[in-house]
Amino acid sequence: MEGLTGLDEGSKLLIHKAEETLVHAYAPYSDFFVGAALMLESGDIITGANQENSAYPLCMCAERVALYAKASRFPDVRVQKIAVVARNGNRPALVAATPCGACRQVMLEFELRQQLPIEVIMMVAKDQWIKLPDVKSLLPYSFTPANLRV
Ligand code: THU
Repeated sequence: MEGLTGLDEGSKLLIHKAEETLVHAYAPYSDFFVGAALMLESGDIITGANQENSAYPLCMCAERVALYAKASRFPDVRVQKIAVVARNGNRPALVAATPCGACRQVMLEFELRQQLPIEVIMMVAKDQWIKLPDVKSLLPYSFTPANLRV
């Protein structure tokens, strides 16, 4: 576990891009603003921010907004890393945020599909950043396409 300064430059850049996209979050119900940024093999960066709805179950997390945008715009380009950041209300400091279970499952599908691990950069506790080597370590005993084939 590291502070921000202990992270490599690529991870810091991606955190910065995720932070920049927080202005596009639409979170009037939770007041919890989340940004995600993907680094692609091509060097392109795709971002996404959470989008809420008055029908609460329709709210969409930042990670899935970013991943589905990537799948639509750059279907054949693989994702190397994802950074997730969050802000609570109008307080300026970033707060801890780790991908929800649904996002982990979706992230795993992308990782399996592209056959390249996706590094995950996130703040797991106040000012404690972590970079995981892959999504599968975020979701042990996961349900995968292999389960459908037995
Ligand atoms: N949220 C995300 O965008 N990503 C996550 O992984 C966790 C939760 C959003 C969904 C909702 O808009 C708000 O945070 C509060 O749950």
